[in-house]
Amino acid sequence: MTLRIVFRISVLVLVIYSAVTQKCPAGGRSESSIVGWMLRGHVYDTLLAELPFTCVFKCREDNRCQSFNWVISLLTCEFNNRTKEARPEDFIPNPNRSYYRRDLERVPLGSIQELPAESCDVIKRSEGHAVSGKYWFSTIKSGTSVRAYCNMETNEKWKKINTGPVCFRARGDSYGAFNIRVGGVIYTFKLVHLSGSIRCNPGFSPSYWGCDNPGYGDTRLLTVLTFKNKSALLLADYKRKYCDYRYKIEGVGVNDTELQFNNLPSPISVSVGDEFQIWYGQDLTNCSEDNNSGQTCADVYAWYA
Ligand SMILES: *[C@@H]1O[C@H](CO)[C@@H](O)[C@H](O)[C@H]1NC(C)=O
Ligand SMILES: *[C@@H]1O[C@H](CO)[C@@H](O)[C@H](O)[C@H]1NC(C)=O
Ligand SMILES: *[C@@H]1O[C@H](CO)[C@@H](O)[C@H](O)[C@H]1NC(C)=O
Ligand SMILES: *[C@@H]1O[C@H](CO)[C@@H](O)[C@H](O)[C@H]1NC(C)=O
Ligand SMILES: *[C@@H]1O[C@H](CO)[C@@H](O)[C@H](O)[C@H]1NC(C)=O
Ligand SMILES: *[C@@H]1O[C@H](CO)[C@@H](O)[C@H](O)[C@H]1NC(C)=O
Repeated sequence: MTLRIVFRISVLVLVIYSAVTQKCPAGGRSESSIVGWMLRGHVYDTLLAELPFTCVFKCREDNRCQSFNWVISLLTCEFNNRTKEARPEDFIPNPNRSYYRRDLERVPLGSIQELPAESCDVIKRSEGHAVSGKYWFSTIKSGTSVRAYCNMETNEKWKKINTGPVCFRARGDSYGAFNIRVGGVIYTFKLVHLSGSIRCNPGFSPSYWGCDNPGYGDTRLLTVLTFKNKSALLLADYKRKYCDYRYKIEGVGVNDTELQFNNLPSPISVSVGDEFQIWYGQDLTNCSEDNNSGQTCADVYAWYA
């Protein structure tokens, strides 16, 4: 009974609030509530409040506050550190809640350390017109905010990194090096075959990226990307019980034109000039490389956030 009355009052308040906020555009920043909807999974704090006004003011006091859900049945607001624009997939119907975007002085996502973003795309969605530049990210190093560059002008996620072909041989510490030309956050890489092939043994067929030794089972890929210090990027599930870096990637054969790696476990931040290397796994480890031969040349692409 009382819940019903409270609910009626709440709805009335929502209607009034909506009317007020719509009449005062405040530079077009305000937005009315959306009754019957909520943003899921981004609640960083809650507050008991009889009226959503209280939440509106509380939200303005916290830099993290991007929006809130008002839970009508519990007279509680749930403060979100995202907007529905940033995370449309988490905006869902809920009969007990109303969604309010922060009306005034909302801090742009990724612009301060306390409000790091998960990707450049999310910033772009959240802010509509984001400019290229440095933003804060939560996804580069776990547990801390790190600043990295976002190119907001491009929609193409794969960016070619090399200028000339990058070539690597199967033996003799003959890796292919390439340097980053655009700073940013990288999820993964892919190599596109240009010319040449490699053998891990004169008795087996050559291939672009691997070793055609039947003894390798389904882990016949052997092309490895490393940092300049020769430590391998975790772009595949390497079988390290063997002396080389053999692995399999679902759907990629040793002779496929494109070798697209798995996503890195956590994206890496790169700066202009950073060097990376392509190695044949046996050359990287000096592991049974004596009978190896050949050279593969490729283009390198990175998937930027
Ligand atoms: C946003 O809130 C969620 C849910 O509480 C939390 O897991 C996440 O770390 C918060 N993100 C930031 C950037 O504060
Ligand atoms: C809405 O609130 C009622 C009463 O508290 C509860 O029984 C119901 O499960 C809630 N529904 C949703 C979708 O949260
Ligand atoms: C890869 O392709 C080359 C020709 O380009 C062919 O000679 C070789 O046998 C192929 N290797 C495998 C493992 O299929
Ligand atoms: C190699 O360099 C990368 C990137 O700078 C770094 O994350 C990694 O810890 C280094 N590895 C070793 C073994 O020094
Ligand atoms: C492989 O051999 C080269 C010299 O040919 C050496 O510089 C390098 O450190 C060796 N790598 C490993 C992983 O042992
Ligand atoms: C591989 O090289 C070793 C010498 O390093 C040689 O003894 C062996 O016969 C070679 N294997 C093949 C298949 O050519």
